[in-house]
Amino acid sequence: MGMSDLYGPADEAESIATIHAALDAGITLLDTGDFYGMGHNELLLREALRGRDREQVVLSVKFGALRGPDRSFGGVDGRPAAVRNFLAYSLRRLGTDHVDVYRLARVDPAVPIEETVGAIAGMVEAGFVRHVGLSEAGADTIRRAHAEHPIADLQIEYSLLSRGIEAEILPTCRELRIAVTAYGVLSRGLLSGHWSKDRALTPADIRSHSPRFGGENLDRNLSLVEALRAVADAKGSTVAQLALGWVLSRGEDIVPLVGARRRERLAEALPALELDLTADDLAAIERAVPPGAAAGDRYNEAQMAMLDSERPPAN
Ligand SMILES: NC(=O)c1ccc[n+]([C@@H]2O[C@H](COP(=O)([O-])OP(=O)(O)OC[C@H]3O[C@@H](n4cnc5c(N)ncnc54)[C@H](OP(=O)(O)O)[C@@H]3O)[C@@H](O)[C@H]2O)c1
Repeated sequence: MGMSDLYGPADEAESIATIHAALDAGITLLDTGDFYGMGHNELLLREALRGRDREQVVLSVKFGALRGPDRSFGGVDGRPAAVRNFLAYSLRRLGTDHVDVYRLARVDPAVPIEETVGAIAGMVEAGFVRHVGLSEAGADTIRRAHAEHPIADLQIEYSLLSRGIEAEILPTCRELRIAVTAYGVLSRGLLSGHWSKDRALTPADIRSHSPRFGGENLDRNLSLVEALRAVADAKGSTVAQLALGWVLSRGEDIVPLVGARRRERLAEALPALELDLTADDLAAIERAVPPGAAAGDRYNEAQMAMLDSERPPAN
């Protein structure tokens, strides 16, 4: 995402070099959205995958978010006709004949999830999609979607600072044997150990509208990061590695996405796979950043309202 949109300027050559470095290191899962830079991210992946073995890569693609020429966001479209249309364009931009996991980015309140998932299932039958996924869906929606067609995985924010899925969503996924792709594992950089109060944010950077990145909330959140840094120092790791290692420790069914945009960041992230966190380490990490410690919601009010995962359960 950050290679094409929402996190300020990115360097295209460095983005492609980072994807190559990831593939060379054995990373197989590449996540994108057709709306990341209005097609830019898919074209970037196409370029990065030129000359590579398509079968070695799992392409996870999100669709449905509507954009304007001024880069604005204008809701979501999960209608079956839209599903087929979005997919046709994505396949062309990606230069492939199939997507491995296809998912609606945000549940469309105007379209029953059965209809959207049913349309993706039709694309599975036709051979254009391998697996159906979900993004930011709540427990009820997950059950309804899974009853329509088996769901392979749910993509959702999960980190030391965002543990909301632990109450109901994660148990539901585990009951139904649905995997989780965790995003925002570094809380969009806040939890990376590289963030500071004087980092300038352009208005196009979504973090400039994020409740966690401003004012007193930022002070509070950065103090949590400093507590985590003490644990990382004692372990001989970095804050980012600890934050990634913690998510990796939560279960083999949880796959963390890494939002590295540069090779240097990727090189820092990868050793998290080898990090051996003991029960004492995990306890120290959770003392530094206890559940619910983050100051501020994970999105601003308008974006929170679009999250099916944040809706109170239906009675
Ligand atoms: N389904 C959804 O609703 C949804 C929403 C958001 C994202 N996603 C997916 O999840 C992916 C990751 O999300 P994210 O980018 O927000 O997550 P993230 O990994 O929490 O944050 C990435 C940010 O952390 C910074 N960072 C600092 N040290 C890093 C390190 N060692 N390794 C990696 N990053 C480091 C990066 O910094 P620099 O500024 O230095 O590059 C980048 O700005 C996205 O690319 C997208 O595919 C899905």
